[in-house]
Amino acid sequence: MHYPCTFARGENRFPKDEDGLMKMGETTYVDTWRTMQKIMTKGKIKAIGVSNFNKEEVENLIAAGKAPAVHQMEVHPFLTQEAFTRWHQDQGIHVQQFSPLGNQNSFYRDIYWNNGLANRGRLIDEPILAEIGRKYSKSPAQVALTWGVNNGRSVIPKSTIPWQIQQNMASDFVLEKEDIAKIDSLNANLRFNTPDEAYRWPLYKGLDGI
Ligand SMILES: NC(=O)c1ccc[n+]([C@@H]2O[C@H](COP(=O)([O-])OP(=O)(O)OC[C@H]3O[C@@H](n4cnc5c(N)ncnc54)[C@H](OP(=O)(O)O)[C@@H]3O)[C@@H](O)[C@H]2O)c1
Repeated sequence: MHYPCTFARGENRFPKDEDGLMKMGETTYVDTWRTMQKIMTKGKIKAIGVSNFNKEEVENLIAAGKAPAVHQMEVHPFLTQEAFTRWHQDQGIHVQQFSPLGNQNSFYRDIYWNNGLANRGRLIDEPILAEIGRKYSKSPAQVALTWGVNNGRSVIPKSTIPWQIQQNMASDFVLEKEDIAKIDSLNANLRFNTPDEAYRWPLYKGLDGI
């Protein structure tokens, strides 16, 4: 389940109202969750994952019968979401990092300008990642990815370039604790204004940017 909401049914997959905001459907994400579980009992699916839910929304799914197997959410060294990911691990929910290289498209850069964090530049240009990379003979991108793997998460970097894809596949080496701590220190809660905002963040209200 990609978002904790449904959009209004119809021909248009991304229906908007006269103010340009998404038109919401009547089905709640909990309704969808219950239906997904029924499909599971029929053996048609093995596991259900969610994405972009906040803590309360995940708790509502658990209360509705079952924890998701996986939560795909934005995590990278500029947005470590440490407490939130630890909470998932305590619940037995696997965390999968989307945009594990900090993403680089303009949609995200615009958001960072809005909250005054665009001067961070691109994650893969971060000197600390380059310095750690030299120690292990790895690139900054590989250091960012293995930081996620070393923390028990999976990472799904996107690339269309064969050498980058090869590099990304070789990003599961072991970092020393002190290096993990240095990478943790890069956290800027990018996208959010406070560290705990991800717990409450209703992403679907910002979907007019699609
Ligand atoms: N669930 C959700 O709401 C959600 C939201 C966003 C993204 N995602 C998913 O997350 C995945 C990745 O996210 P993303 O594309 O936003 O961000 P990302 O993987 O953090 O960043 C992608 C960028 O990194 C570059 N890159 C990849 N490997 C590299 C390397 N080894 N060295 C240097 N640059 C490298 C790519 O360049 P090139 O393009 O030039 O190869 C691309 O510009 C996708 O599968 C996407 O569908 C999910």
